Amino acid sequence: MTPVRSSQKSSKREAELLAAIDLDRLPAHIAIIMDGNGRWAKGKHLPRFAGHRAGIGAVREAVKGCTRLGISFLTLYAFSLENWKRPPAEVRFLMSLLREYLKDAVDDLNENNIRLESIGRIGELSKAVQKDLERAVERTRNNKGMRLTLALNYGSRAEIVDATRELVKRGSRTGQLRIDEETISQALYTRDLPDPDLLIRTSGELRLSNFLLWQVAYSEIWVTSKYWPDFTQLDLLQAVVDFQKRERRYGGLGQ
Ligand code: IPE
Ligand code: IPE
Ligand code: MG
Repeated sequence: MTPVRSSQKSSKREAELLAAIDLDRLPAHIAIIMDGNGRWAKGKHLPRFAGHRAGIGAVREAVKGCTRLGISFLTLYAFSLENWKRPPAEVRFLMSLLREYLKDAVDDLNENNIRLESIGRIGELSKAVQKDLERAVERTRNNKGMRLTLALNYGSRAEIVDATRELVKRGSRTGQLRIDEETISQALYTRDLPDPDLLIRTSGELRLSNFLLWQVAYSEIWVTSKYWPDFTQLDLLQAVVDFQKRERRYGGLGQ
């Protein structure tokens, strides 16, 4: 198939998917577990690094797709607390790729009115990464469009531990310890974000891998067998179409 014909085909598919989406019922918050970079590379007889690099293209696709659709919050799981278990060279590469992204993406984020933020134990990242992150956050701080949150050195159990410590600290300072769903939610790193409506995971794994355990209590989960570097805007649209076909019951009887 010639590239022209294939792009005609994908724009036809895009038009069909867009026509199927009800813009009044979009998920406000989409969270993505970007998985499968290594297997993508392996399938092409390339080193894992090549998969991670290709994954940046999919990040751009997801950000662009969400912006075009008018999604308010996008949260991307970029590096977990447990990912430190990987070989040091891979961790170093992921960190350098992150720094590259943080430097390169700012102009594009500003053009699209996107505000960048992060969640996770940021203070444990290298000073250089922290500096680049702070700079990108600062440079996009006044944008009023989509909020793009990178989960970096993020682990959900650690987040709950940090939140609990924070509440206890506050309690001993004020003499009042209030523990309920609201105070816990407000002590999590995600205190400024609504819970995700839609959680996407690539590469077919049916697990949460310590991502937003508290927050995804009633999220709709959508999994594709595609590896992350192959994720496109069409996949995002498909996920939203499928999301809109689900009935969210929150434990009740629904409609
Ligand atoms: C996701 O791809 C990237 C990160 C977790 C940082 P993986 O590196 O986990 O790729 P697979 O799962 O080994 O294929
Ligand atoms: C989850 O992917 C972490 C990120 C996407 C950053 P992993 O590849 O680390 O998860 P497991 O090890 O397959 O559960
Ligand atoms: Mg993985």
